[in-house]
Amino acid sequence: MANLEILINRAAIANRVVELGRQVSADYAGSELLVVGVLTGAFIFTADLVRALDLPLAVDFIRVASYGEATCSSGRISLTKELECQIAGRHLLLVEDIVDTGRTLAWLQAHLLGRNPASLKVCALIDKSERREVAVAVDYVGFPVAEGFLVGYGLDCGDRYRQLPDLCHLRP
Ligand code: PRP
Repeated sequence: MANLEILINRAAIANRVVELGRQVSADYAGSELLVVGVLTGAFIFTADLVRALDLPLAVDFIRVASYGEATCSSGRISLTKELECQIAGRHLLLVEDIVDTGRTLAWLQAHLLGRNPASLKVCALIDKSERREVAVAVDYVGFPVAEGFLVGYGLDCGDRYRQLPDLCHLRP
């Protein structure tokens, strides 16, 4: 499509997911993990990441809304789907497609830590740290990205483009 330019292609994503999987597997060796994907954007990354993990694990999903159909953060976070697992005493790995202002992640961390997990770490495919408005720690980063509106590999614009296999820059 004319308004799309591939920024990170599917092969580069796949290679990085394997690397992340090795790193997470080494860090959690001997433990059992609860992988928490943040819907909707992280559904593809979560599916690929868990297949790169050599650990006993369970998967659950949580959904929050912040952007709606706009292309910039509204700053408002609402929980639209709660986890179904019990999380107290478990090691959680929260999986995000992108951390931008950090508002969603900060909200999720506070929400999950309030339920007493044994630990909580974050793995984000894309980290736009230069746009951060709230200080949040991202333990595992797929790709730091400085600018541009990204779609594909789960990321959307108005709920479109999530199915694209590559991460693309959507030109205005
Ligand atoms: C995106 C993304 C993160 C959040 C990051 O979700 O999946 O959850 O925005 O932005 P922030 O760091 O500025 O808070 P979005 O609300 O677009 O929903 P989606 O996952 O359904 O696409």
